[in-house]
Amino acid sequence: MKLTLRFVLPLAFVLALVAYGVVPLVDAMTLRWFVRDLDIRSQLVSNTMQDPLGVMVRAKSDARIKSYFDRAIQDERLYAIGICDTAGKLLYKTNTFPKSLDCRSPELQDMTKSQKLQLPEGSLHVMTQPLDADGVLIGKLVLIHDMSFIDRRSDSTRRYVFYFFIGLATLISFITVFVARLSYHGLIEGMRALLRGEGLQKLNFKIKTPELRPLAKDIRALVRDLEQDRRAKDEGQISWNAKQLKTILNRDLAGDEVLIVSNREPYIHIKRKDRIDIQMPASGLVTALEPIMRACSGTWIAHGSGSADREAVDKKDHVRVPPDNPSYQIRRVWLTPEEEAGYYYGFSNEGLWPLCHIAHTRPTFRTSDWKQYVEVNQKFARAVIEEAKTEDPVILVQDYHFALLPQLIREKLPNATIITFWHIPWPNPESFGICPWREEIIAGLLGSSIIGFHTQFHCNNFIDSVDRFLETRIDRESSTVSYGGKLTAVKNYPISIEWLPRWLQKQMSIAECRSHIRELNGIAPDCKIGIGVDRLDYTKGILERFAAIERLFELNPDYIGHFSFVQIAAPSRSSIEQYKYFNEQVHATAERINQRFGKTGYKPIHLKVEHHEPDQVFEYYRGADVCVVTSLHDGMNLVAKEFVAARDDEQGVLILSQFAGASRELPEALVVNPYNTDQCAAALHVALSMPVNEQRDRIRSMRALIQEFNVFRWAGRMLMDAARMRQRQRLMGKISGSESTLREGGV
Ligand code: G6P
Repeated sequence: MKLTLRFVLPLAFVLALVAYGVVPLVDAMTLRWFVRDLDIRSQLVSNTMQDPLGVMVRAKSDARIKSYFDRAIQDERLYAIGICDTAGKLLYKTNTFPKSLDCRSPELQDMTKSQKLQLPEGSLHVMTQPLDADGVLIGKLVLIHDMSFIDRRSDSTRRYVFYFFIGLATLISFITVFVARLSYHGLIEGMRALLRGEGLQKLNFKIKTPELRPLAKDIRALVRDLEQDRRAKDEGQISWNAKQLKTILNRDLAGDEVLIVSNREPYIHIKRKDRIDIQMPASGLVTALEPIMRACSGTWIAHGSGSADREAVDKKDHVRVPPDNPSYQIRRVWLTPEEEAGYYYGFSNEGLWPLCHIAHTRPTFRTSDWKQYVEVNQKFARAVIEEAKTEDPVILVQDYHFALLPQLIREKLPNATIITFWHIPWPNPESFGICPWREEIIAGLLGSSIIGFHTQFHCNNFIDSVDRFLETRIDRESSTVSYGGKLTAVKNYPISIEWLPRWLQKQMSIAECRSHIRELNGIAPDCKIGIGVDRLDYTKGILERFAAIERLFELNPDYIGHFSFVQIAAPSRSSIEQYKYFNEQVHATAERINQRFGKTGYKPIHLKVEHHEPDQVFEYYRGADVCVVTSLHDGMNLVAKEFVAARDDEQGVLILSQFAGASRELPEALVVNPYNTDQCAAALHVALSMPVNEQRDRIRSMRALIQEFNVFRWAGRMLMDAARMRQRQRLMGKISGSESTLREGGV
């Protein structure tokens, strides 16, 4: 359509210009030239005739004058000649002399300039000149030229000019359309490619010359560098906190809807004998996302797993939280016992969890579990669609419970921005490849706009797995995967905690916490305390930790009676066989060590397998001398960061597994290999005997890092990336809209 206009419009414009501007102008000009020619000609003829005519008129030689006139008008342009005497009488004239003219006609009175007359005889040029003989005026000579030849010539000139300009205009229109199509298409393609991060290779139909390709690559690299630079500046300049995150959300995602989907809900209603308790579950995911949701007031869709959850919701299964100061809502999704068994316990926690952690526990994959996993993902997709009030919400999908959800949402809400965060490690392709539904899982995840992992290492593993198992186009430079025409960015966003954690607000002083936890556990005031806080999970390295404590006592018996370890272990997934078995092992090991090294009034290991609220956990962090995190494999591990944040006295030592993502960010911790028992025992010794100055230096540096790279920055980075992506998408939408209009135009 547009192309047709682009062709017709210039043509019509030129036609109008030619008809109403150029042709009349050319006409007027040629007429002026011809009249001037006739003036000169008449002057010449008059000069030539003057002398012979003067003689002949004086001699009254009528016959000679007549024949002279007849010969003269042989000239095709000289139409008629006449001679008037001084009294105004027409003495001589050719037969062609116009009847309507006589010597008294006003047209013949002016002898200084010629006249153009439109008479019944036609269009005539009339010039009157004085006629004298021997210097005496005897009358005037009237020379009349035929001007019809001018009209004829003018007609053909007009035609030539007209056709010439039409030809020229058509040519210009063609060239315009051609150039426009070439450059517009190129521009669109180039921009789209750039926006997709594919750079300018798409311009190849224009940049056919291979020597220009490096230039396109350079431009692409420059654009990316500028973008990264801008992003780094944006992020670096912000001091991240809840308020700042809110401001960024309002600025970059103004009015956009934000939905979170996770299996675990942030608040669980639990039925007790005489009341309903509200509990925050032990989950790194919940710890990280809850402050974000408080800041951006959206809807959190999660499995309603608490015994009193149904009693707390309204008709639409919504409940407003946090209970003391509601700022967002949970939408609870109900699962049948069969669904929970297959999707949550089965496929998620007996299949994907051990598969991704590679912690020597064999994954179990059952087809029946997979079916429930698929169905529950579909159920959550329906809940998301129900909750979405707009066509393009920002949806934050959390974790391995929902690998299929991004694709299912994408089918219904193609314009949604889906950010999926995988909170656990992603294994190498060899390990991942044992999953019977590996292709479906990867394809499901690739419905996301962005997939986030804690570390670059896990991003690389994911991209390698995609490469191995699915037909996609991977751009490793920009870390994007193109699958089914849809682009997914794979990025690392190391998760963190709220700074400062709100649990610190109600805490007692360090000294009070120290004495309180000693009092609670019957630990002597001079006994140093180590703390471990985990879910009771085989990936956490709790047995390896106990082995290190045992080894410490073996190597340094002085610690017996002077060092106790408190292990808080939140019961987790307890209906799974492996977890039951692990629970038994942990109890048995603690028991054995306690028997071996314990004595009256002294217990080396205090195993507390029960739920602790965050403020209780923070009290332990503050009252302990050393915190031990020995995960065999962990996406990040937020306990490490929480311990550091809790120590506003800048004391305390962190022992941290090299296999936890946190070790990449906190090298000031005593980083250990949990499988190396002697090394871990040595680390305990170093920690328990570390001078206060060294403790301060180490923890101060870690606190500075966590303060800067807190959870608001984690979420802010993802949401800013989402905002940029949405801006690009809107731009691309406009570009492809124009492109299809262009195509409809039939060019
Ligand atoms: C890990 C997972 C979370 C999960 C949490 C607690 O941190 O990444 O998705 O919520 O463990 O596990 P649970 O099975 O009790 O939710």
